Amino acid sequence: MKKTILSLLLLVATIAIHGNDKKKRQIEFKPAQEWFDTNGHPINAHGGGVIYFKKTYYWYGEHKLKGKSEKQFADGGIHCYSSKDLINWKDEGIVLSVDYKNENSDIAYGCILERPKVVYNNKNKQFVAYFKLYLKGVGYKVSNVGVAVSDNPNGPFTYHHKFHGGGSPYGSGDFSMFQDDNGELYHLTVRKPDKAFVIGKMDSDYYYPDGEYQICGGVDAHTEAPAVIKRKGTYHLLGSGSSGWNPNAARSFTTNNLLGEWTSHGNPCKGINPIDKMGPEKTFSGQASYIINVRGKKDTYIAMFDIWKPQLPITGRYIWLPIQFKNNKMSIVWRDSWRLNNFK
Ligand code: DGJ
Repeated sequence: MKKTILSLLLLVATIAIHGNDKKKRQIEFKPAQEWFDTNGHPINAHGGGVIYFKKTYYWYGEHKLKGKSEKQFADGGIHCYSSKDLINWKDEGIVLSVDYKNENSDIAYGCILERPKVVYNNKNKQFVAYFKLYLKGVGYKVSNVGVAVSDNPNGPFTYHHKFHGGGSPYGSGDFSMFQDDNGELYHLTVRKPDKAFVIGKMDSDYYYPDGEYQICGGVDAHTEAPAVIKRKGTYHLLGSGSSGWNPNAARSFTTNNLLGEWTSHGNPCKGINPIDKMGPEKTFSGQASYIINVRGKKDTYIAMFDIWKPQLPITGRYIWLPIQFKNNKMSIVWRDSWRLNNFK
């Protein structure tokens, strides 16, 4: 009897300590390890992107539904978290939910809603969210870009419309929304179904493509998961190859003219992820989703990658690594853990 009570007490204490551990203030990035929000729950924001607004970062990603596999439609909408330091994230909730009531909605439960990216439109004072949208029952056949809007960074977002994106008669696969210094917004996407990598300018509302798309010369076809930044006048593109949910090698490109020819610099990754036992040939087991320009720190960029788990998508983890630039080319070296302060 005594023994049973003792083991029960031990169990309660372990749970309490473990629970607190998950809520503990975090000081390091720990790529490929479980990442808990400030409530102690695993962060659920896959294929995401991060914006900075009024001294706060907002991370938007795919909210994956519990217990579902990719085949059972695990997409629940857009989940948002906020943070001051990029490490400790507060849950801001699901800011755009799939529609569980109206079967005819573009975002009806059962649709595929992936890779959300949010951009602030200063002209309309509006946050515009973009995501890959495949209508319910259509699978990955006909691709759209879904658009939702909000007056606040932490939502709620309202579904607005969809567009094909890629130029008629094409569609859009994985994409990046790149906002240039002059406020012009570009949609860079792997066009469907031919998988050419193309760019199109958006209108000043950031709602629809404005005119034709053109092929990005020098960027390999089948480049997925694109993330674009501008650094010291050079545009950098980080992406992957195309192999479904399985990891492949990352690839990088630069150009001085967004609408001109790009130069390929191959795979920027180095090192091994000891948890998943994968190196550069598999992007440490991840696939790119976004590059964060860290505010208040000179020349500091973070590459965001996802480790996909199609059997149980909610268990997918994240790999965030600092980007270093040598001779104007990016290099991403594996680190088991790292801090922004120690990173030059
Ligand atoms: C790769 C894409 O990057 C993901 O977003 C997802 O669409 C998978 N393909 C589906 O196989």
